[in-house]
Amino acid sequence: MTTPFARLGGEPTIAAITNHFYDLIDQDPAYAELRAIHAADLSVVRNGLSHFLIGWAGGPRDWFERGQCVMSLHRAFPVTPALADQWSAAMARAIHAQPGIEPELAQAMTRALDHMAQGMINQTQDRTAA
Ligand code: HEM
Repeated sequence: MTTPFARLGGEPTIAAITNHFYDLIDQDPAYAELRAIHAADLSVVRNGLSHFLIGWAGGPRDWFERGQCVMSLHRAFPVTPALADQWSAAMARAIHAQPGIEPELAQAMTRALDHMAQGMINQTQDRTAA
């Protein structure tokens, strides 16, 4: 069976997408609100998200073997609709900017991760709309 992990080109591609994603969050003011709730040092979360995505896409599952659920983990963070949209927008940009990625796979990943981010919303009051 060909997994998304294999079609992407494995760990180097997923690491590149993850690093681009956090570079965008770190540097583009469009994601300032999302940046503000992350730790000053993004290296831990770069590693965590990269390993999550590797397992999610069908590669080595070491992140999942920690026994954590990515949805439950996010209950600790104030996920407003605006923050979920910032996350999804930055991820869509990072995925689509990846050289050589199959367009159908890029689209499918973007959609699936957007659904996941929308499912993490735990605060209905959108602070940016207040
Ligand atoms: C599909 C959507 C998302 C996925 C797959 C995801 C995944 C992850 C992963 C794997 C980690 C690292 C946890 C670890 O390895 O211990 C993490 C951390 C984190 N995520 Fe998400 N996330 C998503 C959406 C969001 C959204 C919408 C927010 C907005 C509030 C958010 C905020 C955070 C924060 C604040 C951290 C901790 C960062 C730190 O301490 O520096 N995430 N996320």
